[in-house]
Amino acid sequence: MNISNKLRNWVDECAALCKPDKIHWCDGSDEEYQSLANMLIEKGAIKKLNESKRPNSYYAVSDPTDVARVEDRTFICSEKEEDAGPTNNWKDPAEMKELLKGIFDGCMKGRTMYVMPFSMGPLGSDIAHIGVEITDSPYVVMNMRIMTRIGSKVLDVLGDGNFVHCLHSVGAPLADGQEDVNWPCNKEKYIVQFPEERSIWSFGSGYGGNALLGKKCFALRIASAMAKDEGWMAEHMLIVGITSPEGVKKYVAAAFPSACGKTNLAMLTPTIPGWKVETVGDDIAWMKFGDDGRLYAINPEYGFFGVAPGTSYHTNGNAMKSMESNSLFTNVALTDDGDVWWEGMTEEKPAHLKDWHGKDWTPDSQTPSSHPNSRFTCPASQCPVIDKDWENPKGVPISAILFGGRRASIVPLVNEAFDWQYGTFLGSSVSSEMTAAAAGTLGQLRHDPFAMLPFCGYNMGDYFAHWLKMGKKSDSSKLPKIFYVNWFRKDENGKFIWPGYGDNIRVLKWVFERLEGSDNFEDRPYGRIPSKGALDTSGLDISNDEMEKLFVISKEEGLSEVNELREYYKKFGDKLPAELADELNKLEERYNKM
Ligand code: OXD
Ligand code: MN
Repeated sequence: MNISNKLRNWVDECAALCKPDKIHWCDGSDEEYQSLANMLIEKGAIKKLNESKRPNSYYAVSDPTDVARVEDRTFICSEKEEDAGPTNNWKDPAEMKELLKGIFDGCMKGRTMYVMPFSMGPLGSDIAHIGVEITDSPYVVMNMRIMTRIGSKVLDVLGDGNFVHCLHSVGAPLADGQEDVNWPCNKEKYIVQFPEERSIWSFGSGYGGNALLGKKCFALRIASAMAKDEGWMAEHMLIVGITSPEGVKKYVAAAFPSACGKTNLAMLTPTIPGWKVETVGDDIAWMKFGDDGRLYAINPEYGFFGVAPGTSYHTNGNAMKSMESNSLFTNVALTDDGDVWWEGMTEEKPAHLKDWHGKDWTPDSQTPSSHPNSRFTCPASQCPVIDKDWENPKGVPISAILFGGRRASIVPLVNEAFDWQYGTFLGSSVSSEMTAAAAGTLGQLRHDPFAMLPFCGYNMGDYFAHWLKMGKKSDSSKLPKIFYVNWFRKDENGKFIWPGYGDNIRVLKWVFERLEGSDNFEDRPYGRIPSKGALDTSGLDISNDEMEKLFVISKEEGLSEVNELREYYKKFGDKLPAELADELNKLEERYNKM
């Protein structure tokens, strides 16, 4: 292996601090993956699924207290407090480092320290970046091998270049002879980013976004800080290619909060004939302007780490097919024939399961069989509709950006921003009902600007300014057009009005037509909406009345949203760009004229 002095010194330092029994440099090979899996099976920590049903696939359950991202234990330790801003937890970096050095001291005793070089993005792409994760969790290594490009080949590209330092421990050292548990973790958790140093220290959790450090910690929190300094964008966005019946293809990126359907939109099966949707990524987009003035995006990840419940051959057949083999499942239920099941996977519930606590479960059970944030990890390359350019090192040119959230009322099915500046305003205004992806209050409405609330590695006010600045980097005709969507509007009986899933292609079709210059829109105070009949509802069982309901915002509702946002904006003090305050005032004026 091609190990630079820089890397070796850092690994030595970490080993001296964490005091593992052994150090293993991951080469990323199949053999290594199998031997980790076998070791965990032997310990009883994971199970192999039935080979004839789901080849080369594994099953894990976590400690019941370690099931989601922990936002209140996530820290941005920038040198200055104001650089973390009002939406992040800040601690002085020197103090935090001292504290962490204390808790990491000896934290890997009795365990193996794995060193995993990984690339976020196609190896060698101009938009990609390299990190090295040190972890004492073989389960994390297995996940990272699916989610990122790991191993010796990464070291060859890295040479003696810089990399993001990612140190992770489950925080559960073993005394001599102490028996391990299936899911070691620590009730004290720290998910800490040092944006200036480009480093991450994560302690106490083995779960997803807390532990697979390439994902949220690096590809969003650290990368967003890098992107601000270097003039690019790191966003919580899926990327899809959409091809019209005429064979014209356009790429769209979309930012929705966690567990609001990014994976479903990324792999959508269109319900109207002739349209094709292909997947580039389902969670994160890194975007840079190309020489032609257009914005190009790569998916820095290599796999999907999706929410299992609700995923079925009906709602997202392409996701189901992506995980038919070589996959890892966490906190779902186990069927009697050694396969997995979760709520919503099939209409008919299995007569008997082992739930995620390992207890017997039947359809009469009062609790769900799977945790609502249970997950599948599977290789992106297995997606039947993976885009032919998903690994293109140059990225794909983005023609439109969608923002959206989960809103039962007020927010319309779709509206288009008048321009980039108003689009930035729309991104800043995103609010959404909370889901199980983070520990917190389910269903509570919260502001989640650009779906980046838990992921922005610096002051959110500066992030808004960065967006405005990016919009000035190119000619407006070359910038992506910006839209705001909401699939989740409910009627007075609490029923979703819009069918969603594959039918969302109907909204994408209108977006596509707008990109092509069609004038099938009308202006509303809040943006442009499809003119009457412009949204293709052919074959849909939805009345004109219901269609209208999807777009109604009364003057009172509009003004109350304005007031609410004005209050929220106060949080950012003088970091709030004047352009956004301006857009808010103009929106208020438009509502007042209604
Ligand atoms: C995720 C999340 O896991 O956003 O993608 O929580
Ligand atoms: Mn996400």
